[in-house]
Amino acid sequence: MNFQVAIYGMGRFGRALAGALPAGSLARTGGRRDGVAAWKDLYRRGPEAFLKDLPGGTLVVLSVPDDALETVANEFATLPGAGSLFFVHTSGVRGPEVLEPIADAGAQTGVLHLLQSFPPDGGAGLIRGCYGVVEGGPELRACLSELAAGLGVITIELTDAQRVPYHAAAVLASNALVAMLDAGREMLESAGLPAEQAGKMLLPLARGTLHNVEKLGLHEALTGPVVRGDVGTIRRHLGVLAGDARRTYVAMMLAVADTAERSGRTPPNKLNEIRALLREQP
Ligand SMILES: NC(=O)c1ccc[n+]([C@@H]2O[C@H](COP(=O)([O-])OP(=O)(O)OC[C@H]3O[C@@H](n4cnc5c(N)ncnc54)[C@H](OP(=O)(O)O)[C@@H]3O)[C@@H](O)[C@H]2O)c1
Repeated sequence: MNFQVAIYGMGRFGRALAGALPAGSLARTGGRRDGVAAWKDLYRRGPEAFLKDLPGGTLVVLSVPDDALETVANEFATLPGAGSLFFVHTSGVRGPEVLEPIADAGAQTGVLHLLQSFPPDGGAGLIRGCYGVVEGGPELRACLSELAAGLGVITIELTDAQRVPYHAAAVLASNALVAMLDAGREMLESAGLPAEQAGKMLLPLARGTLHNVEKLGLHEALTGPVVRGDVGTIRRHLGVLAGDARRTYVAMMLAVADTAERSGRTPPNKLNEIRALLREQP
């Protein structure tokens, strides 16, 4: 790459990106506080020190929480040299307009979102093969495309109207998946299974399911009582579940019924019976 990258906000995203960049292309890292151990040598406190003497054309990645973007954009916009840099934020739900104060200062601004879920550390290995959004004017987009290609990211383009549904879908595929596993774990523990076992035993099942989805597609991968039309099994589940567990189960089984319908594998009369049973639950 013939440009350097500077990352402001060394949380999950910032650390993953920093770890995945080609050797020699990380100019510096920064953020509002000192002391992120692994990046201490490069870490500079605050926007002013972070931006000082950065060569023009450096790509500044603002990987701060979505709701901090306005504040951070205003902090950078007034700093000397900001106008000669490229700035992107990493939010999936915000467009480039949130960086308008920096654009008004003369910088090219855009978005670099990666469709991945990063752990607190060691997320670099999850970047290759994931999808991502790059957005910006022609010169910035050329930089981002080169960066994305080097990282092995499959880039997609979104219209403004697609941005929020894209992010909502991502939240379902990642955050809701974690919540479902947690709800399952909670059911097992409430039924008296040892906590350690309850926390682990659903993971091979989830991995197997994702494997089937990848191999067979969503509709053929669906197994279980809804797609089979086993109403009696669902009645048995409802017979023992209570409280939050029951509420989660009912909401998710209605979503499973929608997938079963789209798969065309469940007789319509069975689907009707299942939906009626689920909807009549208090
Ligand atoms: N995590 C993911 O898997 C993921 C995936 C795709 C996109 N993203 C996007 O990446 C961005 C960052 O998410 P994240 O998960 O990396 O968050 P995170 O782990 O919470 O890290 C955010 C970083 O920003 C810093 N920060 C917070 N407010 C700030 C402010 N006002 N000024 C300067 N720095 C500030 C935090 O510093 P402190 O440590 O001092 O709080 C922290 O270092 C978000 O837009 C998110 O949507 C995240």
